[in-house]
Amino acid sequence: MTLPTPGPVTFERSPNGLGLGTAHPRISWRLPESSGSQLAYELEFQRAGLTTVTGRVAAAGRHLVPWPAAPLASRERVRVRVRVWTDDEPGASGWSEPAWAEAALLDPEEWSAVPVGGAWDEDTDSSAERRPARIRREFVLDKPVVAARLYATAHGVYEAEINGRRVGDDALSPGWSVYGRRLQYLTYDVTSYLAVGRNAIGAWLGDGWYRGRLGFHGGTRNVYGTDQSLLAQLEITHDDGTMTVIATDSSWQAAVGPVITSSLYDGEVHDGRADSADWSRPGGADGGKWAPVVSHERDMSTLVPAEGPPIRCTAVLTPVHSLRRDDGSYLLDFGQNLVGRLAITVSGPRGTRVVLRHAEVLVNGDLATGPLRQARAVDEYVLRGEENEQWEPRFTIHGFRYATVTGWPGELTEGSVVARVYHTDMPLAGTFECSDPLVTRLHENVRWSMRGNFVGIPTDCPARDERLGWTGDVQVFAPTALFLYDCAALLDSWLTDVGHEQLPDGTVPWFVPVIPSPPPWTPIRPGAGWGDAAALIPVALYQATGDAELLRRHYAAARAWVDLITSLAGPGRLWNTGFQLGDWLDPAAPADEPAASETDPYLIATAYFAWSARHVSIAADVLGDPAEAERYRELADEIAKAFRSRYLLSSGRLTSDTQASYAVAIVFGLLDGEAAVSHAGRRLAELVRENGHHIGTGFIGTPIVCDALTVTGHLDAAYRLLMQTECPSWLYPVTQGATTIWERWDSLRPNGTLNPAGMTSFNHFALGSVADWMHRVIAGLAPAAPGYRKIEFRPQPGGGLTSAAASHETPYGRAAISWEIADEEMSVTMTVPPNCTATAHLPGVPPVEMGSGTLRMRIRRNRDS
Ligand code: BGC
Repeated sequence: MTLPTPGPVTFERSPNGLGLGTAHPRISWRLPESSGSQLAYELEFQRAGLTTVTGRVAAAGRHLVPWPAAPLASRERVRVRVRVWTDDEPGASGWSEPAWAEAALLDPEEWSAVPVGGAWDEDTDSSAERRPARIRREFVLDKPVVAARLYATAHGVYEAEINGRRVGDDALSPGWSVYGRRLQYLTYDVTSYLAVGRNAIGAWLGDGWYRGRLGFHGGTRNVYGTDQSLLAQLEITHDDGTMTVIATDSSWQAAVGPVITSSLYDGEVHDGRADSADWSRPGGADGGKWAPVVSHERDMSTLVPAEGPPIRCTAVLTPVHSLRRDDGSYLLDFGQNLVGRLAITVSGPRGTRVVLRHAEVLVNGDLATGPLRQARAVDEYVLRGEENEQWEPRFTIHGFRYATVTGWPGELTEGSVVARVYHTDMPLAGTFECSDPLVTRLHENVRWSMRGNFVGIPTDCPARDERLGWTGDVQVFAPTALFLYDCAALLDSWLTDVGHEQLPDGTVPWFVPVIPSPPPWTPIRPGAGWGDAAALIPVALYQATGDAELLRRHYAAARAWVDLITSLAGPGRLWNTGFQLGDWLDPAAPADEPAASETDPYLIATAYFAWSARHVSIAADVLGDPAEAERYRELADEIAKAFRSRYLLSSGRLTSDTQASYAVAIVFGLLDGEAAVSHAGRRLAELVRENGHHIGTGFIGTPIVCDALTVTGHLDAAYRLLMQTECPSWLYPVTQGATTIWERWDSLRPNGTLNPAGMTSFNHFALGSVADWMHRVIAGLAPAAPGYRKIEFRPQPGGGLTSAAASHETPYGRAAISWEIADEEMSVTMTVPPNCTATAHLPGVPPVEMGSGTLRMRIRRNRDS
């Protein structure tokens, strides 16, 4: 019998091993699902004709195994294979398919390129849109090409072409980062794009986040600079080992192209009449007004290779409904609120202008554009007058389910307008479904809100003039996010920016990257629940991936945050000063005062202070600093004690007698002893009941209120809260046809009107953080040790559900559970990946220890359990 061969190895979190930013990339591989547990492995490295092997290494590890070979040099390409020994059979498996690790430019000195862009005068002061540039250059190759790489980034956003062919399928590259500190570049294998003779390279440029308008109340332009430029280095290796380097420099040329304006918020205007397919081919500049470029500045030590998957189109949707209106325009419904843009195929007279408008919802049968605030979200295309012209805007992105099309020549036929969905192309990791279609749809809505808002960085919302990396939103959502998609690379990158934007005193900004913004966001102040992202997300990352390196990288920022709050709180250990957002957007807060939560914001602030101190202690332990771990543990205990003396009354109630208060007190471990915890749980359940099983929490209480009820024995109340369909509740939007999670419980009010507050989005993931509870408690799948090396199966059926299932791609393979209740029997199927163990806690039976493999169990249930 041949042993199952492992899958090809991967390096760090790179999707293809190309352009690695380290000389020591860690290596991972997967065993086939049917495989037994790994006992040992051997890695083989082939570089410059030499093969080396590690020899047999007796270890189960196959996730981020340290690079055991000589360090990679810049650009070096090494072929790596693995074989394994498992407990299935005595022999070794076959070798995996080979994979290549290739280093990026590891030393800033290796960049000869400089940023270049159009040399014409631009109005940098007014708010007038500037016409984007295209840049190009031709060159002659006189020797055959054996390999070619393009390293590219921009001040702004770019799309490169070589000899008339689009390079890569990434969009909005290089994404958003704290550009002054870190500008990501991408590496492309362009070997097949080049040939001996004349060649041409060019790039479309857009303003993007670098100099486009960002932020609310009109926003700010030129946040990072006034230039729009490409920074690229094309390195071509010939058959004789020599290299030709074509780097952006003064030899390039620039001209405006067919794009008239391009803005992330406002959309794009493209005049097809000014288009020519040849502009990036040799000779393509003929007749055009190409002029020398101007060079700009960039500190090359700020260039970093992009570590994870890029933003790209991941799905294409066709309208589920199309209506021709009296004025000749079309109203399209894509059946799903999504983030992306429309692509059109159109034939009509030259000069016809097709206008595409976008909105998340309809009011009175028309697009509701009010919630967009000052984001125009309109794309326009002027036809060349040819058959089947195809167009899609390049450097904009919209949040929409509905669109109108005006000016369309003739009939709009099926397939001529499609919606292309864009987000960071993270590998899918988690699934969930259950017997209640509304709950399953709620879960899908969470997934769609994650897709729409994980676009390079985690944003709050995708449609209005905001789209910022609000720290609090992703802080509460991170555990859910890490279950649904492998978003570790994106969160790691964003946390690096959090570290860069952290103020010297430890203050973590409200949103990262920071952009100019009006009060109360400027001057930046520390806010509970938001700044705690720095301390809590690294631990969530570690729990999901088992990668202690992530903790190490972000530890200093986490500790600085807790140290800052420690000094603000003083010896009393109560954080009860300053501006706080409290339980932001709880249903009791007035629509235009979302921070005026029912729950005392200082109670929440002290609760988070304790919780973050506890997490720093956990991190210190993992990082091998027990003394520091002890210090932060003691600090957390002292804060909890202070919390009790200040906020816990002798009656056992909290000073803010609200759902959120009890939720934080219970879940953050702030109460002393079982009696106090069960008292708090009882009161919470009572509050929930008194509230007619309607949710009473905002961003802070919502992710944990069901957990607080569950761990205190009020599972039934948790289910009733979840299954509620009246407003406010999770399912109310679902009954209203929502296909994403709304920002407010009543973004659309029960009377059918839009919430009139200026801040009303229909695609905000924060309130969807309950999905984490759905995975762990309804389906019953949770990590019991970092990286799911130990799994806890603990399904807790309720709410009339008759079945549920969840799965998660752990670093060691797929873990899954599904259960079904029929008559008086519950049948459960659980799968544990190779080299992992699990404990199954099924209702009414003693815990069962499991090794890897699949186990089916049937248990009898009491009528009322
Ligand atoms: C954002 C939120 C964010 C909040 C902070 C809003 O405008 O959309 O999601 O966390 O401000 O107060």
